[in-house]
Amino acid sequence: MARLILSLILAAVASSNAYSIDSRQASGPNDPHKWVKAGATDLRAPCPGLNTLANHGYLPHNGRNITVPMIIQASLDGFNAAVDAIQPFAKFGLLSSNAPETLNLDDLVLHGLIEHDASLSRLDAALGDSLHFNEGQFSTLANSNPGVDYYNCTSAGQVQRDLLAQSIRLNANQTNSPKEFKIRTRESAFYLSVLGDPLTGVAPKKFVDIFFREERLPIAEGWKRPTTLITAATLGALQTVIVANSEWSPTQACETEILGPALTL
Ligand code: HEM
Ligand SMILES: *[C@@H]1O[C@H](CO)[C@@H](O)[C@H](O)[C@H]1NC(C)=O
Ligand SMILES: *[C@@H]1O[C@H](CO)[C@@H](O)[C@H](O)[C@H]1NC(C)=O
Ligand SMILES: *[C@@H]1O[C@H](CO)[C@@H](O)[C@H](O)[C@H]1NC(C)=O
Repeated sequence: MARLILSLILAAVASSNAYSIDSRQASGPNDPHKWVKAGATDLRAPCPGLNTLANHGYLPHNGRNITVPMIIQASLDGFNAAVDAIQPFAKFGLLSSNAPETLNLDDLVLHGLIEHDASLSRLDAALGDSLHFNEGQFSTLANSNPGVDYYNCTSAGQVQRDLLAQSIRLNANQTNSPKEFKIRTRESAFYLSVLGDPLTGVAPKKFVDIFFREERLPIAEGWKRPTTLITAATLGALQTVIVANSEWSPTQACETEILGPALTL
C-alpha cells in the first residue's frame, strides 16, 4: 500500500514537472490550452489566427469581451508573435466594436475595416458568408505549390493573384486598393510564419491546412510554436517576396492609413 501511494505521488510529481517544463506542448486532460472546438454560443472571427487562439484558450473560449492587451499576450503565448506585429491590427480591429475597450470576435466581420474581398478561406461579403471557413474558397490555397509538401512565399503570392482574379470575375462590387492588398499580404505572411519558419516562410501544407480547416494548432501532428519571434520585420521580409509573386495592381486608390508612429498601411 505504501509503495502504491509512493508511486502515485511520484507519478503526480513527474507529470506536474513535465507540465511546467513546457505547458504549451502539454496535451493531457488538464492542459489549459487543449483545443476545444467552438460551441454554438461561442463567437468567432473571420480570422483563423484569433479563432485558433480562442479554441486553445489563449483568448476567452466564448470569444467575448476581448481587449487589445489580451490579443497581444495571446499572440505571444500561442504563436510567438511580438507586440509590434500584433498591436496595430488589434487596435484597428477594436473599431469594429461599439464597446470602448473590448470586442467580440464576430465584430471583426465588419466589411471594409480589416475584412476584405479575395480572402484565402472566406467568401467575399457581397457573395455570401465572409465569417466562416469555406472549403471551396480555400481550394486555391490547398492546391497551390503542387508536387511538394509545403507552401512558401512564391505559392502564397500566386494564391493571392488567383483569388483576386476570381473575386474580380465574380464580385461586381469588388474592392482592391492598396489597403486590402497590404492586409492580404500580411495575412499570407502570418500563416507561413506561425505554421512554418518565420525566417524562410516555408510552412508544411499539413499544418497550414489544419490551421485553416479546424482552427487548431497541429501539435499532435508535430507542429511546435516557432522559436523565432515573429515581428513586423520578419513579416515584412516575407511580404516583399510574396508581393513579387502576386503580379498585383490596384483597382482603386486609397489614402495612406496611419496605424501608429512606426507603421503605415
Ligand atoms: C495573432 C496572429 C494572427 C494571425 C496568425 C492571423 C492570421 C490571419 C489569416 C491567415 C487571415 C486570412 C484569412 C483568409 O483570408 O481567409 C486573417 C484574416 C483576418 N484577421 Fe487575422 N491574424 C492574426 C491577428 C489578427 C488580429 C490582431 C486581428 C484584429 C484584431 C485580426 C483580424 C483579422 C480579420 C478581420 C481577418 C479577415 C480578413 C478577411 O479575410 O477578410 N487578425 N488573419
Ligand atoms: C461582455 O460583453 C457583453 C456584450 O457581448 C456585455 O453585455 C457584457 O456586459 C460584457 N461583460 C463584461 C464583464 O464586460
Ligand atoms: C461594396 O463596395 C463599397 C466600395 O468599395 C464598400 O464600401 C461596400 O462595403 C461594398 N459592399 C459589399 C457588400 O461588399
Ligand atoms: C517555393 O517552392 C517552389 C516549389 O518547390 C519553388 O519552385 C520556389 O522557388 C519556392 N520559392 C521560394 C521563395 O523558395
